Amino acid sequence: MRILVTGGTGYIGSHTVLALLDAGYDVLIADNYVNSKPEALRRICKLAGQDVPFALCDLRSEAETFKLFAENTDIEAVIHFAGLKAVGESVHEPLLYFDNNLKSTLNLLKAMQEYGVHSFVFSSSATVYGDPASLPIREDAALHVASPYGRTKLMIEDILRDVAHADPALRVSILRYFNPVGAHPSGMIGEDPNGIPNNLMPFIAQVAVGKLDYLPVYGDDYDTPDGTGVRDYIHVCDLAEGHVSALKALTAPGVYTFNLGTGHGYSVLDIVHAYETACGHAIPYAIKPRRSGDIAACFADPAHAREGLHWEATRGLADMCKDSWNFQHNNPDGYSND
Ligand code: NAD
Ligand code: UD1
Repeated sequence: MRILVTGGTGYIGSHTVLALLDAGYDVLIADNYVNSKPEALRRICKLAGQDVPFALCDLRSEAETFKLFAENTDIEAVIHFAGLKAVGESVHEPLLYFDNNLKSTLNLLKAMQEYGVHSFVFSSSATVYGDPASLPIREDAALHVASPYGRTKLMIEDILRDVAHADPALRVSILRYFNPVGAHPSGMIGEDPNGIPNNLMPFIAQVAVGKLDYLPVYGDDYDTPDGTGVRDYIHVCDLAEGHVSALKALTAPGVYTFNLGTGHGYSVLDIVHAYETACGHAIPYAIKPRRSGDIAACFADPAHAREGLHWEATRGLADMCKDSWNFQHNNPDGYSND
């Protein structure tokens, strides 16, 4: 069974490609390298011990997307990671986000309809819950979004619900990720952000390796145990395995929605201290004002995924920090540019 993995050379996609190959699936990666590098593909192939098929394809182009399906008639399911994901950038360039994220998804869905492909797994985000009314967050919580990026996720979720309503054969799994962190235990693939990282763990990793001087901690006056923001960090390899489980569970038409998180909340300072243990030295930090748009706390109720996908996260915070550090230490400047 061949799975088309869009955005398969990106952070989560690359780990998922390996998990799919491990589980015995055939894969075809499609990416335009807008936020990844050919070096990621070389490393995926090295870790997999095989040449993984790759198509350079911009999914914003309907013609390129249809060509992908026309040339690969054995595609049986699509896992759709491709998208732009920087919240701050989306506020300044909303059209770029709507154009890229929505067009890519529409082109894929049209091509799937044309070529009779019925299974679709979509990368959504806990950002669709906004500032949750209660914790832990269940899948039936109210949905609110605060950024154009978040709106693309919610709009795509709505599109999928409408398209599946009209197409009785379509099977859709919407996966709402909490905070993916860490890296493959080999230290060969991991998160390689462009420029100064926006997210906590890659920022800490660059402080740990000496590329940045200190971590700004955005607020210590939240209503949380130590005053810093609390999130549900999930090891990217657990997340990758969650996609294999989601694919296996997609046996009947309909739209199924799952949180992929651990159910545990850790504060910013919890992460700093766990990372210090992993890297063996102190992480300098300074308390700064709250970051606009941030919420106090966000963590998943993972029960529905446990029951519906027979999946749960098994790796703890120490593994997340150890594997992040291993990748950062081995690749202080990320992937090479060639
Ligand atoms: P990433 O940027 O590392 O990977 C996305 C990949 O998609 C990149 O390789 C990029 O080159 C590719 N891509 C983007 N637009 C494309 C296009 N038009 N055509 C072809 N390829 C295109 O991001 P990631 O962290 O691996 O995230 C994967 C998905 O999960 C995204 O949809 C993201 O919004 C979602 N998500 C990520 C997080 C997170 O914290 N990383 C959290 C929640 C949801
Ligand atoms: C952010 C996005 C969210 C997206 C997610 C994954 C915002 C407002 N939210 O979530 O939509 O789905 O990334 O891509 O951007 N922190 C610091 N210092 C830093 C960086 C972060 O203290 O340098 C704190 C934050 O205030 C927060 C926690 O660390 O309390 C986690 O931040 P981050 O990794 O950016 O993730 P989210 O804000 O949860």
